[in-house]
Amino acid sequence: MTQQPMVDIRGVHKFFGDLHVLAGIDLQVAPGEVCVLMGPSGSGKSTLLRCINEMEQISAGRVYVDGMLMGLREVVKDGRSVLYRLKDSEIAAQRSRIGMVFQRFNLFPHLTAVENVMEAPVQVKKMPKPQAREMAMTQLERVGLSDRADHYPAQLSGGQQQRVAIARALAMTPELMLFDEPTSALDPELVGEVLGVMRELAASGMTMIVVTHEVGFAKEVADHVVFMDGGVVIADGSAAETIENPTHPRAVEFFGKVL
Ligand SMILES: Nc1ncnc2c1ncn2[C@@H]1O[C@H](COP(=O)(O)OP(=O)(O)OP(=O)(O)O)[C@@H](O)[C@H]1O
Ligand SMILES: [Mg+2]
Repeated sequence: MTQQPMVDIRGVHKFFGDLHVLAGIDLQVAPGEVCVLMGPSGSGKSTLLRCINEMEQISAGRVYVDGMLMGLREVVKDGRSVLYRLKDSEIAAQRSRIGMVFQRFNLFPHLTAVENVMEAPVQVKKMPKPQAREMAMTQLERVGLSDRADHYPAQLSGGQQQRVAIARALAMTPELMLFDEPTSALDPELVGEVLGVMRELAASGMTMIVVTHEVGFAKEVADHVVFMDGGVVIADGSAAETIENPTHPRAVEFFGKVL
């Protein structure tokens, strides 16, 4: 990789008490790339995403996003590097550059679609409401929902709610989007519309890390597919390499079941 990676994860460990959930993760994602993350339940996929956007504090290692060291400030003192934890406000500023979409849409039930999308720009970026509304409408259009702007979440299908959640994340103009099983909670007939929006987002050049079991999406959209097990990266290659021709026994077993 000649250019600076958008995401650069180096030797990351995460413990929950005695539980060693991430056991030395190295992973790079170039600008504009789509990285699909797969692996069995409990392998640490969600934890890794949460460490990238600092919802979890890593136990060791470094995470850089667009060259920025996440959560820490490095100061060289007497030729030795010392790390300081950033202030909460600094961490919030870093996090605001990363969009995250979860399995559950987590929309505010008392706000309409457009109000959900406006919320963070108004609250966090102090964007004037008329400007925020206009921008939110643009984002809703992008996910094909401009005609549902004034609907409340309860009046939207699961697929529509998830598309609003994507528009809400895009409203903060993130440089990186993280998706944690964005279609797992959806009825099968609604999966396609959400994957379609993600496919377009990828085509627009967004850098994305996507945890998903959707093999079709991975084969079509992913620049590389990472297989994790037991808190380590077992394989990192093209979909053809990682999914279709796995070599590691645990990957062979996993994809044997998934396919
Ligand atoms: N806050 C927490 N406190 C303690 N243990 C946790 C916490 N979060 C996750 N774990 C544990 O860390 C391990 C990895 O969990 P994680 O949610 O990252 O897995 P995953 O690969 O996303 O699994 P799934 O496919 O089921 O979503 C699991 O053993 C889980 O129980
Ligand atoms: Mg998970």
